[in-house]
Amino acid sequence: MAKATQDLWWKSGIIYEVYARSFQDSNGDGIGDIRGLIQRLDYLQWLGVNAVWLTPVYPSPMKDLGYDISDYTGIDPVFGKLNDFEELLNEVHSRGMKLVVDFIPNHSSDHHPWFQESRSSKDNPKRNWYIWKDAGPDGAEPNNWLSVLGGPAWAWDKHTGQYYYHTFLKEQPELNLRNPDVLKAMLEAMRFWLDKGVDGFRVDVMWYLIKDEKFRDNPVNPDYKPDMPSSEQLIQAYSSNQPGVHDIVRQFRKLLDEYSEKVMIGELYLSINKIVDYYGANNGGAHLPGNHQLLLLPWEVKKVAAAIDKYEAALPDGAWPNWVIGNHDQPRVLSRIGRGQAKVAAMLLLSLRGTPIMYYGDEIGMENVEIPREEQKDPQGLLMENNKSRDPQRTPMQWDASENAGFTTGKPWLRLPKSFEQQNVEAQKKDPHSLLNFYRQLIQLRQKEPALMMGDYYPVLTDGKLLAYIRRGKGSTSFLLVLNMTDKAVDFKPKDRGIRGRVVLSTNRDWEEQELETGSRLEANEGVLARLADT
Ligand code: NOJ
Repeated sequence: MAKATQDLWWKSGIIYEVYARSFQDSNGDGIGDIRGLIQRLDYLQWLGVNAVWLTPVYPSPMKDLGYDISDYTGIDPVFGKLNDFEELLNEVHSRGMKLVVDFIPNHSSDHHPWFQESRSSKDNPKRNWYIWKDAGPDGAEPNNWLSVLGGPAWAWDKHTGQYYYHTFLKEQPELNLRNPDVLKAMLEAMRFWLDKGVDGFRVDVMWYLIKDEKFRDNPVNPDYKPDMPSSEQLIQAYSSNQPGVHDIVRQFRKLLDEYSEKVMIGELYLSINKIVDYYGANNGGAHLPGNHQLLLLPWEVKKVAAAIDKYEAALPDGAWPNWVIGNHDQPRVLSRIGRGQAKVAAMLLLSLRGTPIMYYGDEIGMENVEIPREEQKDPQGLLMENNKSRDPQRTPMQWDASENAGFTTGKPWLRLPKSFEQQNVEAQKKDPHSLLNFYRQLIQLRQKEPALMMGDYYPVLTDGKLLAYIRRGKGSTSFLLVLNMTDKAVDFKPKDRGIRGRVVLSTNRDWEEQELETGSRLEANEGVLARLADT
């Protein structure tokens, strides 16, 4: 019998993103791999997370570090072999955890045999698997669309005399998901992994999957400023978030529904109103359309509070929220908000309503690491002037104070910061006040308290200087959260002066039986979690 919906693991659990190249190397080549991840699963179990999202480990020429797939049903030798992956699945499952894999249906590598065939001639049966167009007048590109990584999104193919489309690198040609054969091939690849036992997919750039049928020019962005990435000169009115995308997502979902308790996370950088469309009609779309608000918003009480409320209000009936504060594409959370706010950010992520998605290393306070140009690997930083390299947030996990932080016996593919000697898992495990132990405490609390795991969310109105909310479960203890997102002390002034509770956990200190109530002073950078008085 299917479990009660509240019990679904992807609703009640915590997902942890592992950037495959940077978690643990097992063979001394300086690049993280599957066997390395297996060695570190005990750590993830100790931390208390429920699921791993693993970034792509498919065969790839690595032009975009794995987001350019040349075989959808294999494993790149850099990461291991298919049987290593199978062992990983067993090891994850034997610990009661789940494994979600990245899936990239929007584009393949130009080395993929499909593209090789497609580009071989205009009448090749796979020609229409990608997006080919004739040149405009005077050999111009078919329309004005721009690549997210700079320059036009069209690459000229001399051999067949047409352009092909690529949102990202020219080595990442766009698949034509309007072609039923392509959709079928994607579903077959997903089925391959589902049959192996994976617990779901994180679908890359979900909002790009379908383009305007007429390929109309995108309008000019009147708000463009020269320091913005060049692709933002245009508004992507026709090149992304097209209505047909929801049919594709529904097809993916139908496949997942043939299995039990699988999850589809969608990568989406869109406004809240548009994100929620990806739950699909009758919630038949993505289970967790990625909500990236906390990655992008300035760290200010009013803005964050407004975004939470707007998101909560926009969610369709029965849709389950999700939150993320770090991923492999955005600067590290502490580099955005400052080290002082580390525990406040942890408390926010792990106490909001919805599935938290953590990013490896955030739990030990890893920050962006400056990588000299000659050592950079990310094409985004190397190709574009106004687009920042993502290498700084992808550096190796800092396990201990030994050479290369215990990540590799070889030369790490990206350098580590000097600070790893103090800032690492081993050192923080021993320190009861460390960020790592704080994360673990929060995780344990969330795992045992139904109100924190599944309860409703109610904003608490204050004078706007603190972020405050209540998580209320059915028949269980309710919690009051009050977060000071600044480095100045602030008094708690709820509009409803009766709101108070007994403090269970503070980011800063022991409240020694003191109540959190009207007039309580929160220290700079303090977050407090309290048992609500009426429960
Ligand atoms: C989103 C991925 O997260 C990013 O790392 C990648 O470069 C692009 N999609 C292209 O696949």
